[in-house]
Amino acid sequence: MLVLGIETSCDETAAAVVENGLVVRSNIVASQYDLHGPFGGVVPEVAARAHAERITAVVDESLRAANCRPADLGGIGVVNRPGLVGALLVGLSAAKGFALAWDLPLVGVDHIAAHVYAAHLAGFHTYPQVALIVSGGHTCLYRVAGPQQLTVLGQTTDDAAGEAFDKVAQLLGLGFPGGPALARCAEKGDPQAVHFSRCGPNEKLNATPNFSFSGLKTAVYYHLRGPGGGRTPREISEQERADVAAGFQEAACEILVEKTLAAAQRGAIQAVTVGGGVACNKRLRALFAERARRYTPAIEVFFPPAEFCTDNAAMSAGLAFQRLHKGERDALDLEVDPTPKRA
Ligand code: KG4
Ligand code: ZN
Repeated sequence: MLVLGIETSCDETAAAVVENGLVVRSNIVASQYDLHGPFGGVVPEVAARAHAERITAVVDESLRAANCRPADLGGIGVVNRPGLVGALLVGLSAAKGFALAWDLPLVGVDHIAAHVYAAHLAGFHTYPQVALIVSGGHTCLYRVAGPQQLTVLGQTTDDAAGEAFDKVAQLLGLGFPGGPALARCAEKGDPQAVHFSRCGPNEKLNATPNFSFSGLKTAVYYHLRGPGGGRTPREISEQERADVAAGFQEAACEILVEKTLAAAQRGAIQAVTVGGGVACNKRLRALFAERARRYTPAIEVFFPPAEFCTDNAAMSAGLAFQRLHKGERDALDLEVDPTPKRA
């Protein structure tokens, strides 16, 4: 069965065609970085308008690249939660239109569950697994018993990991999107030069599977302001900027790695998958590999390729197949839901 996936939850307009939930026939992503860059973050109204302008062309391109016609499709999967409400509405409205015009079944897909599915799509099929999803809007830990069987183990109590990367990059004057820019800057820095606490005083990092990044972000802010609090960004040398970036990245990655591996060990689970945009981070990948080897037996950590970590519709089409092939479908009055499911 060929499934068309549509994803417009944030600032990527994406469509993909996936065969039987596993074979990616096309994966088209129109990014909006250029539109949001001048504002230093995603502007919801700008995102929704750009989705509306691009969605038809992106869907056309995904069919053309997959060498298939609407009549070859077995269904449509669309991300309808969570995300920016106006952005989600554009994708959902388009999907409903295509489903009606082409007489195809439609299913709604959860964006975070789709990030979890990216590992399955990339060929990693070991269950149960612990999945860490780290993106601009979400930081969640799941116990995953199968492609659609997710139980929340922990989540952020304040900022998402990607949001912390983006905000710290902004403090360092590194532009938008901040995560990749900060990672590049950190390459020139010494991760031991500036130490940022991984958790609060009298706390043990691994004691809880929940995350908090706002304290780390604030620590970077006060460090940059200097001892008297009056230092301006211009007074910070290039080397110190790189050292702060590297120190922040090291702390953020260690928090993610330690909590995830501890959660796996607590649940006697030997497999970990990581998804979402921050999973592209090279230091995160290296630290996971290094720390996972310390466990006996060693925990296996799988990262999907970068194109399936950042927002894309292939993961959504793959997850939608899991519902469609069981005969599940949603009615055309399906609604968007901007909020993530809470534990
Ligand atoms: O999953 P994603 O594409 O969109 C959301 O669902 O949010 O994730 C985007 C996030 C942004 O915060 C971006 O800065 C971060 O992923 N990101 C990175 C890297 N590449 C993307 N963060 C750290 N290091 C990277 N290499
Ligand atoms: Zn995402």
